[in-house]
Amino acid sequence: MDNRARRPAILITGANGEMGHGLIHALSQRNADVVAVDLHPLDESLQPLVRAHQAGDILDTQLMQRLVSKYEVTTIFHLAALLSTRSEFSPEIAHRVNVTGTLELLRLAHQQSTWSGVRTKFIFPSSIAAYGVAGKKDRLHPLKEHEYTEPTTMYGCNKVYCEHLGRYFAQYYQQLAAQPIKGGVDFRGIRFPGLISADTVPSGGTSDYGPEMIHAAAQGTPYACFVRPDTTIPFMAMPDGVKALLDLYSAPEEALTQRVYNINAFSCSAQDFYDEVQKHFPQAQVSFDPHLKRQAIVDSWPAEVNDGPARRDWGFSPTYTLASAFRDYLVPQISARYAP
Ligand SMILES: NC(=O)c1ccc[n+]([C@@H]2O[C@H](COP(=O)([O-])OP(=O)(O)OC[C@H]3O[C@@H](n4cnc5c(N)ncnc54)[C@H](O)[C@@H]3O)[C@@H](O)[C@H]2O)c1
Repeated sequence: MDNRARRPAILITGANGEMGHGLIHALSQRNADVVAVDLHPLDESLQPLVRAHQAGDILDTQLMQRLVSKYEVTTIFHLAALLSTRSEFSPEIAHRVNVTGTLELLRLAHQQSTWSGVRTKFIFPSSIAAYGVAGKKDRLHPLKEHEYTEPTTMYGCNKVYCEHLGRYFAQYYQQLAAQPIKGGVDFRGIRFPGLISADTVPSGGTSDYGPEMIHAAAQGTPYACFVRPDTTIPFMAMPDGVKALLDLYSAPEEALTQRVYNINAFSCSAQDFYDEVQKHFPQAQVSFDPHLKRQAIVDSWPAEVNDGPARRDWGFSPTYTLASAFRDYLVPQISARYAP
């Protein structure tokens, strides 16, 4: 395959989602050539920031092959997924999108590398949903990556399995082939905590109560939180999440001692979250009305994770604490967004 006919580009799937918004802005500041794919047409505000955008399904192999006939894909940020709550309503569809979709993209990454002879980077956002702590939440130390990985949701199962698939493609795919493979897939995954974005309102996740609370308070609308006040999980402000994706992407492969990394910024309870909301929006009308099944899902996730390897191997270091995320990022931007 003659690569000179194709323009090098970074492919982002699920580009129109919460994380995609932040990532496209950050990559455009680096003058990266981005090709964006999402089921829904890319937001008009993002369109000038990318080289090309395509509305379509990642499971549509013809569409994906048409894209790689035009672009030499050097890196894939594979963000497209059905999130945790939505996946429980349609587990088979979630499996198709989250697992088959990832498998197809790993194959596409491998194909790209065999054309160019260079390893294709594959950046995969996994989640704390990969854990299942089965009633032990209050008694656990901050969890390492390999501990308690028996999730209770389809989304969590999908994430753990795709981490394994990524590791397999990076190290073992076609291991019995007669000729050594040139290139291959350089898979790198991050297990994200719940993310809070000032730009977008989340949909379909089970950590959404945090961001939903602050977006509702800024709009002056009442909010019923679907978990108990003492419910604690790790969270992170979206700019730190995007920075982590780019830091892991930029790290030299030899510095990485594992393929999947935990990261954490601050663990806080729903009550802590409410206290911050109250501090900045004293008129906020928040009640707690736990949804037993969504509560059970959040209770299966750890209160804290150990992100020592990410800090050691690629210098992960979040900027925001809970207080500074509210003061310096969320409140100013969300207030401006909903200003009359
Ligand atoms: N937001 C969080 O708190 C969080 C936490 C941990 C991990 N993650 C992971 O990060 C990634 C991005 O999450 P997000 O918050 O931006 O989610 P999101 O729901 O905002 O965005 C996902 C995007 O994927 C698109 N999509 C879904 N199915 C598709 C398909 N078949 N083909 C093409 N596009 C499709 C959707 O249209 C959507 O725009 C996901 O893989 C998610 O699992 C998110």
